Amino acid sequence: MFQNVLITGTGKTAGLGFNLVLRYLEAGDTVTATIRKPCPELEVLKEQYSSKLVILTMDISNTDSVNAAAEELRSKMDHLDLLINNAVNVSPDCDKNFFDADLDLIARTVDITAVGAMRVIKAFYPMLLNSPETALIMNISSEAGSISKCYRTNMIDYGMAKAAMNMATMNLYNTFKENRKVNIFCVHPGWIRTDGRPDNPAPLSSYEAAGILRSLFEKKRDDFEGHRFITNLDEDYPF
Ligand SMILES: NC(=O)c1ccc[n+]([C@@H]2O[C@H](COP(=O)([O-])OP(=O)(O)OC[C@H]3O[C@@H](n4cnc5c(N)ncnc54)[C@H](OP(=O)(O)O)[C@@H]3O)[C@@H](O)[C@H]2O)c1
Repeated sequence: MFQNVLITGTGKTAGLGFNLVLRYLEAGDTVTATIRKPCPELEVLKEQYSSKLVILTMDISNTDSVNAAAEELRSKMDHLDLLINNAVNVSPDCDKNFFDADLDLIARTVDITAVGAMRVIKAFYPMLLNSPETALIMNISSEAGSISKCYRTNMIDYGMAKAAMNMATMNLYNTFKENRKVNIFCVHPGWIRTDGRPDNPAPLSSYEAAGILRSLFEKKRDDFEGHRFITNLDEDYPF
């Protein structure tokens, strides 16, 4: 089936979000790509894919912005089959350790990355309910959000934000699971060259990673029983 897909954080061509947009468009799906600021490369895709691509401006740190984007999308289509929360924010102190990092920067990272994803889910939930299939929410998390596997002394804001996103995933799974209409997971997407730099040692390009995730997501759509935190290789990952 062709689906209506919404993906957040799609404005960087080397990033995972833009490449997920590309993968779903190439598969024939209708994609809503959300951005904060204009992205010329998405406009090029818009010329190619026409009504199959909707570009929405949405700042996920702002509830009014998210609600306005949802209202705009509802005027264009009646349902969503898949929502991918990909957008992320990290502070400039992300690489610093506890003693050097400005702790006052942490809240913004958590607000955008974890609460932002929840704002998006809440605003677009009625459109997910209208899906003729089981609707799916995939929160792009990270192994860095695993509390039990944590080995780092840096990336405090990022790790806290992804751990919060994982908690939100579990809470919303409990909230939605009764009627088996909307399914939700958090996913470690693999180690990816999302900066587009050839000297980045990560094994996957964003385009490769997006292809793997697209196949994985379809396998998980009706899995209401399995573990909620998974990897791109469909392995359970500890919270
Ligand atoms: N790279 C890896 O190996 C790896 C590993 C594990 C997990 N991940 C996850 O994979 C995902 C994609 O990574 P990436 O490096 O491609 O991400 P990214 O480029 O750093 O960020 C994705 C997008 O999020 C958007 N964004 C930031 N703040 C926003 C806000 N307030 N409202 C709306 N959008 C906002 C950015 O928009 P602007 O363009 O406007 O800044 C950006 O385009 C992330 O969730 C990341 O945590 C990556």
